[in-house]
Amino acid sequence: MSLSNLANQMNQSSSLIRKLFTEGLKLKQIHGKNNVYDMSIGNPCLVPPPEFKKTLISCASENEPYIHGYVPNNGILEARQSVSGLIKNLHNFNVPADNILMTNGAAGAINVLLRCIINPGDEILTFKPYFAEYLWFARVSGAKLIPIPTKFENNFQPEMETISKYINKKTRAILFSNPNNPTGVVYSQSFLNNVGALLDENSKKYKKPIYMIGDDPYQRLVYDGAKATTVFKSTTNSFSISSFSKDLSLAGERIGYLAMHPQQKYASEFIPALTTANRVLGFVNANRLMQKVISKCINYTVDIEEYNIRRKIVINALRRSGAPFVEPKGAFYVFPKVPKGMTDLEFVNILKDRLVLAVPGVAFGTPGYVRICYAYDLNTLKNGMEIFVKTYKEFNGAFDEKKREYENISNTVEMKI
Ligand SMILES: Cc1ncc(COP(=O)(O)O)c(C=O)c1O
Repeated sequence: MSLSNLANQMNQSSSLIRKLFTEGLKLKQIHGKNNVYDMSIGNPCLVPPPEFKKTLISCASENEPYIHGYVPNNGILEARQSVSGLIKNLHNFNVPADNILMTNGAAGAINVLLRCIINPGDEILTFKPYFAEYLWFARVSGAKLIPIPTKFENNFQPEMETISKYINKKTRAILFSNPNNPTGVVYSQSFLNNVGALLDENSKKYKKPIYMIGDDPYQRLVYDGAKATTVFKSTTNSFSISSFSKDLSLAGERIGYLAMHPQQKYASEFIPALTTANRVLGFVNANRLMQKVISKCINYTVDIEEYNIRRKIVINALRRSGAPFVEPKGAFYVFPKVPKGMTDLEFVNILKDRLVLAVPGVAFGTPGYVRICYAYDLNTLKNGMEIFVKTYKEFNGAFDEKKREYENISNTVEMKI
């Protein structure tokens, strides 16, 4: 695919979420920032914990040569050691610091990894609904993303038989977010283990490793006693990718990591390859100052109860609306169905006209739903959800009658978003 072709396609579809973000900023300029209820992009609203700020000031105050200089492309040892400790705490699993690469967020880690494992024409499986950017991460690495259907009635849990049907000689990896963006579903350890066993079986059959990639930036944002699960206990051909964008609210600082299963067959070749990919893709090394800070405060997070409070506000409003949804146990999203008789794009545009912003399910490969992000201030969530409830009730099963009134919306919806 030529670059202009790719740019064109990306402009047209991938950036629905970004477009909404920009649209939200415009609407706020017109109507005032407290009158627009933007629940679209997953940009964490909480301030990082006080320990982060204290450590940041102390690290930035060091007065040594190279304090802002290059560091090794795989990351500084202290940061990799602290990530190793974090994985041990979260999953009781040992990944030595040598098997960890500090990266430019989780997105940087996914791109680095795909550069190392993809041959042109390879297929990457994922579960529907999937994080919108996977489509593009796969495409720019030369692979094709193959989304595996799931059912709302099964709480979006993929079925093993279905997964099995999608594996073939072109399959190189399975990539999924856990907890899931956009549903908030946490995959159970036994499910992950079954997927790992299936991949191992097929790796033997096709005489090549098929990798299991857990995209885990929400692993510490779990509720109601849910526990983070890991690909490391499921197959040795596994990688866990994560970042501090969400659980420490550092999305703009671009700091994350890639951790590799220590018994991976090609472990010794992987780390130099990943390190080189990190360099030549232009990331060079993950943000040095952030690596220093993270080393010292990796065990802190934002106040997760604050997100739980927000989760409950949204869940309660959805119950009042009558919109069917799967109760999220992790991350900060929920993915309800749209009113009967209308598309997600139509519903999102009507909400937008009422100054409420949510992302249409089509952006996650799953039309018929909207994603609501609850990483927003309480005013936005309470007011935004009140409008959501009213709008849902007003339109559920009644869109055909109201269509004339909203003709302009249904006709122009695709251009408007
Ligand atoms: C599932 C998932 N993976 C990766 C990312 C990218 O995270 P980062 O900001 O750490 O690159 C996001 C961001 O929203 C995400 O939701």
